[in-house]
Amino acid sequence: MNKTVLVTGGLGFIGSHTVLDLLANDYEVIIIDNLVNSHIEVLDHIATISGKKPLFFEADVRNEEVLNKIFKEYHIDAIIHFAGLKAVGESVKKPTLYYDVNINTTLALLKMMKKYNCHNIIFSSSATVYGESRELPFTENMNVGVGIKNPYGETKYINELLLKDFATSEDDMHVILLRYFNPIGAHKSGLLGEDPKDIPNNLMPYVLKVAVGELDHLTVFGDDYDTPDGTCIRDYIHVLDLAHGHVLALSKILGMKDKCEIYNLGTGKGSSVLEIVHAFNNVNHIKLPYVIGPRREGDAAMSFASIEKARKELGFEPIYTIEDACLDAFNFIKKHVGKE
Ligand SMILES: NC(=O)c1ccc[n+]([C@@H]2O[C@H](COP(=O)([O-])OP(=O)(O)OC[C@H]3O[C@@H](n4cnc5c(N)ncnc54)[C@H](O)[C@@H]3O)[C@@H](O)[C@H]2O)c1
Repeated sequence: MNKTVLVTGGLGFIGSHTVLDLLANDYEVIIIDNLVNSHIEVLDHIATISGKKPLFFEADVRNEEVLNKIFKEYHIDAIIHFAGLKAVGESVKKPTLYYDVNINTTLALLKMMKKYNCHNIIFSSSATVYGESRELPFTENMNVGVGIKNPYGETKYINELLLKDFATSEDDMHVILLRYFNPIGAHKSGLLGEDPKDIPNNLMPYVLKVAVGELDHLTVFGDDYDTPDGTCIRDYIHVLDLAHGHVLALSKILGMKDKCEIYNLGTGKGSSVLEIVHAFNNVNHIKLPYVIGPRREGDAAMSFASIEKARKELGFEPIYTIEDACLDAFNFIKKHVGKE
């Protein structure tokens, strides 16, 4: 019988791409999402692309009444927990909201796991937990949690602690923590992608706003870092590769003996801000206007993953390039702009 997966936040950017990959691999998918940062149309787009419509509950993951209903009615083999708030700047202004949503969603799910005998949970963590660590590439066994710069990042770290302790204290409970690097790109159909409402903090959404004329130029924060072209280097991973990492992690956790495993999901390679800008210009035949501004507080010169553990233990191998991601992201945003 096909395994059933509860995907929280399954209509969001990474969640929707993961749902597609799960459906393509014959998992039964149940989505819970309160649409705080997504749109119900995404469900139709998933159905159009995959030919299958997953079961959907529009609800907050903290709503235990709804969770009880789902867990009572369906046998959930595993949870993939994407739901949460992710705007770094907003988290500084509204820390209690971020701690509430990002921690209490997990607590509610853990309670259900115990009550209904669900043994597996995969959690969306982030490279942000590496904090001020400067030894590169980042490997999963490094110290984490020191020098995290904002409440959003703290909630990721606290979730990691919480989930590890949960797995340790309970019999037969399994946790996989996936530390994402910088997801970019979109689905090839142009139907799914990322279109943040606010002024974005991350490079690609910012680039896209400039590319469609919503912002008149890109500001590159500093060109005097100790990197080949002076701009910051990050590990950008196509969202389709990232989504596939979840399917591999799911297959691992369903037969896992260990209580808790951690995997970086990136490409293992860094690209500078200017490399991204040039790649974007080349593949999309445009010229993004940009200015060099001062450094932004808290930005590290370089961040990239070691993905050896994911390669070895999950068979994870990213296949898309930053050029693919630039093409796909622009294709999505051109179709999407002005539609809300
Ligand atoms: N995108 C990134 O750069 C990145 C990097 C590292 C980690 N992550 C983490 O990965 C996860 C998914 O990120 P994303 O980029 O797809 O974000 P997203 O905002 O596009 O998706 C999150 C989804 O969760 C839903 N949601 C939020 N709070 C909810 C709640 N209380 N109950 C039910 N649904 C809720 C939103 O409506 C949205 O559809 C998040 O936990 C995020 O912190 C993202």
